Parts: sequence; structure tokens; C-alpha cells
Amino acid sequence: MTFIWAILVVALSVYALYELLNIQKRKRYPPGPTGLPILGHLHLLGKNPHKDLQKLAKKHGPIMYVQLGLVPTIVASSVDAAEKVLKTYDHIFANRPHHEASQHLAYGQKNLVFAKYGVYWRNIRKLCTVHLLSNQKIHSFQSMRKQEVELLIESLKKEARDRVVVDLSANTTSLNANLTCSMVFGKKYMDEDLDKRGFKAVVQDVVHLSAAPNLGDFFPFLGAIDLQGITRKLKDLSKVFDEFLEKIIDEHVHAHEQKQNKDFVDTLMDIMQSGEAKFQFDRRHIKAILFDMLIAAMDTTASSTEWILTELLRHPQVMKKLQKELQEVVGLDRMVEESDLENLNYLDIVVKEGLRLHPVAPLFYHESLEDCVVDDFHVQKGSRIIINCYAIHRDPNVWPEPEKFLPERFVGSSVDFRGRDFQLLPFGSGRRSCPGMQLAVTIVRLVVAQLVHCFEWELPNGIQPCDLDVDEKFGIVTCREKPLLAIPTNRLKK
Ligand code: HEM
Repeated sequence: MTFIWAILVVALSVYALYELLNIQKRKRYPPGPTGLPILGHLHLLGKNPHKDLQKLAKKHGPIMYVQLGLVPTIVASSVDAAEKVLKTYDHIFANRPHHEASQHLAYGQKNLVFAKYGVYWRNIRKLCTVHLLSNQKIHSFQSMRKQEVELLIESLKKEARDRVVVDLSANTTSLNANLTCSMVFGKKYMDEDLDKRGFKAVVQDVVHLSAAPNLGDFFPFLGAIDLQGITRKLKDLSKVFDEFLEKIIDEHVHAHEQKQNKDFVDTLMDIMQSGEAKFQFDRRHIKAILFDMLIAAMDTTASSTEWILTELLRHPQVMKKLQKELQEVVGLDRMVEESDLENLNYLDIVVKEGLRLHPVAPLFYHESLEDCVVDDFHVQKGSRIIINCYAIHRDPNVWPEPEKFLPERFVGSSVDFRGRDFQLLPFGSGRRSCPGMQLAVTIVRLVVAQLVHCFEWELPNGIQPCDLDVDEKFGIVTCREKPLLAIPTNRLKK
């Protein structure tokens, strides 16, 4: 009897194994390049991974499989593929992958950008969209934006009188840092000491370290070993940043109740004290959200502005057309007001085209919560999903002459960047799309309009417009590799 049982168990085990192997065989994974042992396809990605992945997708298809170290990764590079990931299967792909840096910098992925999909993420997303990034809240900072932009224009007017070469990259970065700090903290921190280096230097370190290729993101078991020493640096930096945020919260404790125009710290403290959040919401959560708002807002908006100005300098006829519109709508007697923006249709398509040609977040990262099948391809639970919006924005099947800056392509077209049209995704789409889009677009439009309206711009050292480079530096935010330099001349009557 025992013998018969033994035979039965062995037979069943063999059958189960056979079935398992067969299922594995029947699973069809998306096509992809041949990889190396251990590294997978990591060696195929250089300093511009969005371009490398674009090239690979041209060969292997819009839904492509690559193995980044130990992490199975699906890359979506077409309109259809993006729609599948961000709409059809958005509920399955709405998770964020493990990100070693945000474990240390963002209080264990407690921030919105890297929060795991689930109840916590849903709660803080709602809190941010309702209380911090609503149209009403954005509007409440209008006079602050006016004041900061006017300060920049005044300083540029002096440079214009002396025919000085202006670093437009540095100016847009500094303006956006001022705008963000004023909105988030209620004051500017650019010149204040932080860790003896200054606010800007520390934030730049945070951005740089967050984007640095970290072995722990590709080989999770190496995270704890920290071969590159990145985790140690991140821990040091997070301590400095944490002390800075603690100090700011302390400063707000007594002052915030009487204020009329509440900054983000005031608003978050009100929520904490009222218990309105209906989930555990303490100083750690406030700090993680403040961290997000700073890092997500500052350089994205500055770089988008920088790229649009680059293309305007490369295309003087577009610059002239925009100036003509500004002259007709605003006149040369005054500066642009935010209320003018809705009447500036050409500005609208210039900004759209700039965001298409230069998405500052060319790749964005999701993770699969379950096994699923997309276009007959198997996607296993825990796979990293990369949406290559750079490749989609330059797909010749969707955009004629995709490498050219042609705002007119949007004339008579309803295609917009709000997430409904999967050929234009600078802010993503679906559950994890950018909640700061309205704020970002308001600032980009205002700053571009103001700079183009107040000044004529000329390239220095006899550089011809068509020779102005568009070299990119990939990172959390993809910006110009070299600063954008130009000489302003005053345009307005006073
Ligand atoms: C997420 C783009 C400005 C806050 C994102 C994503 C993109 C993006 C592509 C990821 C979408 C995805 O994973 O599917 C941009 C661009 C900006 C900009 C191009 C400027 C031109 C801002 C601003 C804020 C902000 C001003 C806030 C003040 C966020 C947050 C997330 C996010 C919190 C994460 C949302 C989540 O995971 O639920 N942004 N963004 N962004 N953005 Fe923006």
C-alpha cells in the first residue's frame, strides 16, 4: 500500500512539474534584445537611456522586454502601448517601483511621487490635489508670482541696457526656486545658509543623488551592502534636509494660525491639527510631502521654460510671431498679466510644441501589481514598467517631421497634454499623472510670455540660431547640457 502511495505521489509530482514547465513555455514574453548574464541589458543603456531605449524599441517593438539587472522591465514606446499601460491596465500598473534613494530621502517612500499604490497613496494624493494644487490655491499665489517675475524682468532690464550676456538657464532656475520656496515655505531660501552650502546646493545634491544609477535599484540584495557609497551619502543628506524642514515647521507653529495667505506648510499643519486627514498624518508625512513639492516643482518647470526659450532662439520666425501676438493682445505699454494668458493662442501652441519636443521627464516608471497579459504578452507581477514618452513624442507615425519644432502642427488640432491624448504625455496620464500640471503650465506660460514680450533676444558670439545646440543632460529632470546664453534688448516703451 505504501509503495502504491509513493508511486502516486511521484507520478503526480512529475505531472505537476510538466504542467508548470508547459505553462512557462506557453507564456509569451514581449520581444527584446539578447541580454548578458547577471547584467541583463543594463550595459545597453548609456548616459541618455531614453534615446537608447527609443533605438531598441525601433528594432524590437513598442512593447519590449529588457532585464535591468535582476528587474524584469517592460518598455512602452508607442501611443497604443502607452494607452494600454496608462488607461486599460492603469489599475494594475499604478504602483511605483522600489527606489533606493527615496527610502532615505522621502521617509521610506512616504512621499506622493514614490508612494506604493494603495490607500496611503490615495489619501495623500487627494490631500495634495484638494488642498495644495487646486485651481483656487494656485490662484492664491498669483500676486507672489507677479512680484517674483517682475523682479527678474527688472534685473534683466539692467543687463539689457549694458548689453550683457545673460545666463537664461540660471535665471529660470533661480526664479522657479524662488516661486516654489515662497509657495511652499512662505519665504525664499536661496541665500540662506543650509549646511554651510546654501539651499540651492543642497537641493541640487538631493536631485543628483536621487538620479544616480544605484546598484540597489537593479540588484535589490546589494541595496544593504551599498557598494557605491550612495546610501551613506543619502543618509547624511537626508539628515541635513530633515533638520532644515524641522526648523521651518517649528517656525510655522506659532505664526500660521493668523496668516491670511497660507503657504503649503501652514495648510499641511492645519490638516494635521484638525485631524481632517482621517489617517495617521504627522510631521513625517508633512516633511515627505514638502520634499515632493520642492523636488517635483522646481527643476521640471525651470527646464521646460529653458527648452521652450531654446527653441524660440533657434526659430526667430516663431519668436517674431509670438511677439506679434503679445503686442496685439497686451500692447507695448505694459507687462503681461496672468489674466492675458487665456487670450494668447499662439503662446499656447508654442508651449505645447516645446513640451512635445523636450519632455523634461522623458521616462517615467511604474510597477505591475499583478501578473497580466498585454497584447498577448505576459507581464509578470513586480515588473518595472517604463513609459518612454520621448519615443512617443518623436514617433514619425504620429508626428510628421517629429524632430522639428513646428508649433503650427497644433493649429486646428484638439490634441492636448492633459492626459486624454496618448501621443502627448509630458505630464503622464491616469492615476499617477502629474497633479502639478496646472501650476506648471501657468508658470511656464507666464515666464515665456514675459521674457519674449519684454525683450528682443540675440545669441552671443555670432552664433547662428540654427547652430544653437540642443544637447541634453538626462536626470530626474532632463535639462540642457550647457547653459542657455543670450543678450537681451528692451522692447517695452517703459
Ligand atoms: C508626477 C511631469 C511639474 C508634482 C509627474 C509625472 C510626470 C510629471 C511625467 C509622472 C507621471 C507618471 O508616472 O505616470 C511634470 C512636468 C512638470 C511637472 C513636465 C513641469 C513642467 C510639477 C509640479 C508639481 C508636480 C509643479 C507640484 C508642485 C508631481 C507629483 C507627481 C508628479 C507629486 C507624482 C504623482 C503620483 O505619483 O501620484 N510629473 N511635472 N509636478 N508630479 Fe509633475
